[in-house]
Amino acid sequence: MSKVIRLDYSKTLGFVSQAEINAQAALAKKSNETLHNGSGKGNDFLGWLTLPSSITDADLNDIQATADALRAKCEVVVLVGIGGSYLGSRAVIDALSSSFDWLQKERKSPVILYAGNNIGEDYLVELTEYLQGKSFGIINISKSGTTTEPALAFRILKSELEKSVGKEEAKSRIVAVTDAARGALFTLATKEGYKKYVIPDNVGGRFSVLTPVGLLPIAIAGIDIKELVAGARLLEEKTAPSVPFEENLSEQYAVVRNELYKKGKKIEILANFHPKLHYFAEWWKQLYGESEGKDNKGIFNASVDFTADLHSMGQWIQEGERSIFETVISVAKPNHSFLVPTDEENLDGLNFLAGKNVDYVNKMAELGTQIAHVDGGVPNIKVVVPVLNAYSIGQLIYFFEKACGISGYILGVNPFDQPGVEAYKKNMFALLEKPGYEKETEAIKKRL
Ligand code: PA5
Repeated sequence: MSKVIRLDYSKTLGFVSQAEINAQAALAKKSNETLHNGSGKGNDFLGWLTLPSSITDADLNDIQATADALRAKCEVVVLVGIGGSYLGSRAVIDALSSSFDWLQKERKSPVILYAGNNIGEDYLVELTEYLQGKSFGIINISKSGTTTEPALAFRILKSELEKSVGKEEAKSRIVAVTDAARGALFTLATKEGYKKYVIPDNVGGRFSVLTPVGLLPIAIAGIDIKELVAGARLLEEKTAPSVPFEENLSEQYAVVRNELYKKGKKIEILANFHPKLHYFAEWWKQLYGESEGKDNKGIFNASVDFTADLHSMGQWIQEGERSIFETVISVAKPNHSFLVPTDEENLDGLNFLAGKNVDYVNKMAELGTQIAHVDGGVPNIKVVVPVLNAYSIGQLIYFFEKACGISGYILGVNPFDQPGVEAYKKNMFALLEKPGYEKETEAIKKRL
């Protein structure tokens, strides 16, 4: 079986023609070249393009050593971060960890928990309660170092950790991943002497999973980061501008989704048939939503977990407004085998499946869904992953990142900025009466 991911857009061809797709090949190639020669919009944020080939074994060994030190000390590691500073790690950790591992008493790796991605008071109380009496550490990830949600969570968790193990020991259990020279987190980490990792200036949050932002937490979770990077490296080669359009998965995906968009398919749903991929979709939504949703255009990105959501959103997908297309992450082979048992009484009527793998049932659900949705007017793109392992997930990450850059250029936007996320922050600071926001406070209060 091939170890390489595959793209199948044949089930979009009733909605767009191969000729229409081929007609866009040159634009996709040009967009890919523009990324590589750095002549396009947002060209100061292209560091991610060559991360897989430029990260060295020494870099990876250093990250692994830090991860091992925390693994040795901590039952729990809390990842503090939001958006691009946490979704990539969570996507990979969830996809590659045993679903119930965190509930086990005897564990090989620390439990990874998340904070700083919300401002829920109950969440923080419940988290700190859970941490009572446990040996824990913190990775604080913030490129700007000033984002409110993680800063607030870190302030609380740092104080809890210091109360629990003392200030000196706490320092050895905190790692900061931030800017090389600026920001509140950089200043704090330098003063306290925390171990620091740098988020390169030219890598934006949503493209940062293959930097220490993602690699450190992923290594702490016991996942092979060298395999992850090797998978990404393979796709870096396979999606290079020199690879013809007919073989270039990222160029093809970028073109097909833009052609569907032109035909009125304004919403793309990323579907999976494995609950472990839920957070992969969350990462993907940020990647595409934040990269393309601007200048009053861009596909809206949504996600569904099948088969669960076939019993809820399935109705809308089958018969709602015909403005959607579906991209399915299809896992060719599960990591485990479980056969449906025979039951003497057969009261549930399932003996016709006895002796078959559960995955066979899942695959028939997937195929049946594809046929139903395409019949119902929903074009279907399939990304086939050979098996859920670090090598495949590394490929998937780079495939989607590269396609996102190309797709943004095809659409004509700057895929590497996110001016729209500032609006809520400005209002929040004004409402909180943050020093420096006096004028905004006055103005917003008049509107209430
Ligand atoms: O992709 C992005 O740029 C954002 O999602 C950021 O990663 C997110 O807002 C967190 O920012 P920071 O890492 O500066 O705390």
